Amino acid sequence: MAEPTLVVGGVDIYKGWLDGDAQATLVEDLRAVVSQAPLFSPQTPYGKPMSVRMTSAGKYGWYSDRRGYRYEARHPQGQPWPPIPPSVLAIWAALVGPQRMPDCCLINYYKPDARMGMHQDRDEADFGWPVLSVSLGDDALFRIGGVARGGATSSVWLGSGDVVVMGGAARLCYHGIDRIRPGTSALLQGEGRINLTCRVVD
Ligand code: SIN
Ligand code: FE2
Repeated sequence: MAEPTLVVGGVDIYKGWLDGDAQATLVEDLRAVVSQAPLFSPQTPYGKPMSVRMTSAGKYGWYSDRRGYRYEARHPQGQPWPPIPPSVLAIWAALVGPQRMPDCCLINYYKPDARMGMHQDRDEADFGWPVLSVSLGDDALFRIGGVARGGATSSVWLGSGDVVVMGGAARLCYHGIDRIRPGTSALLQGEGRINLTCRVVD
């Protein structure tokens, strides 16, 4: 297994894991997913719209509205989620292993003013599997805390092609995106950032 470039609060960070060609392929594959499963703006359980737009690929998609955070087998328009592109599964196989593929690849799209509050990823049945996340496009300030809310945190800038793996003791750590630095990448048409989050769900 590859060695991470840095480990912050138990979270493994692989800087520049994807080269430019791999990033461009991924973006093409994601555009195909989004054409079948359009981005939407979920609401938090408190009724606030999230600043991030999202969609998913895989057996399940992550969803949120007033009924809470959960996984759904279908896009809000009714169709099943498209399959996870092989280009995404290859990253998982290389860094997590080939034994079990993720059930969900959540696609988050951040406009320059979008952010993601501190949270844990804990809507899954089995925390034995790590969460793998891929950054594409503009840089983002990623904040990493402990497994309890409100403790000390560390921040690291994630760039296009960086991959983050949260597993083991860090599987349930609090994390979030404080801000995007627009115009730091030419990968996407225009400003913004895509984050892919792959998870085993059930
Ligand atoms: C998330 O944890 O939901 C997103 C993290 C990121 O955008 O890098
Ligand atoms: Fe998360």
